[in-house]
Amino acid sequence: MSHEADPGHDADRAVEFMLHDHEEAVRLLERIVENLAASTSEENPELRRDLRDFIEHTRAHFNREESLMKEVGYPPLPVHKQEHDQRLEELVSFLDDLDAGVVSLNELRELFMGRFLPWYRRHCATMDAATEKFVKGQGRGSEPS
Ligand SMILES: [Fe+2]
Ligand SMILES: [Fe+2]
Repeated sequence: MSHEADPGHDADRAVEFMLHDHEEAVRLLERIVENLAASTSEENPELRRDLRDFIEHTRAHFNREESLMKEVGYPPLPVHKQEHDQRLEELVSFLDDLDAGVVSLNELRELFMGRFLPWYRRHCATMDAATEKFVKGQGRGSEPS
C-alpha cells in the first residue's frame, strides 16, 4: 500500500501542524519571557510587538486545531474551544490593559508568568495531547487489520 492511501499516515500528517505550531509558540513565548524579565518600564514597544505576534500566532493556531476537531467529529470540541476562547480573550485584555495603563509591568508579569504560561503548557500537555491521540486513533482505527 502506498503511503498516500494509508489512513494512519494521513492521520499523522493531519496533526503535524500542531507540533510545528507549538514549537513556534515556544519560540515566541521565550521572547516574551525574556522581555518581561529584562523590562523595567511599561513603555516597551518590543514587548507589545512580541505579545501581538504571539496573539496572532495563537489565534491562527487555535483556528487550525478547531478546524481539525470539526473535521474528525471530535466530541470534546466545545470544551477545548471554550478554553481557547477564554484564554485568548484574557491575553488580548492583558495587552489592552497594558496599552490603557491600567496594569503595571509587575502585574502583567504576574498575569503572564503566573497564569497564562502555566495554562498554555498544561493545555498542550492535556487537551491538545488528547486531541492528537484521538485523531491518530481514528486513522489507525480505519486501517484494515
Ligand atoms: Fe495547541
Ligand atoms: Fe488546543
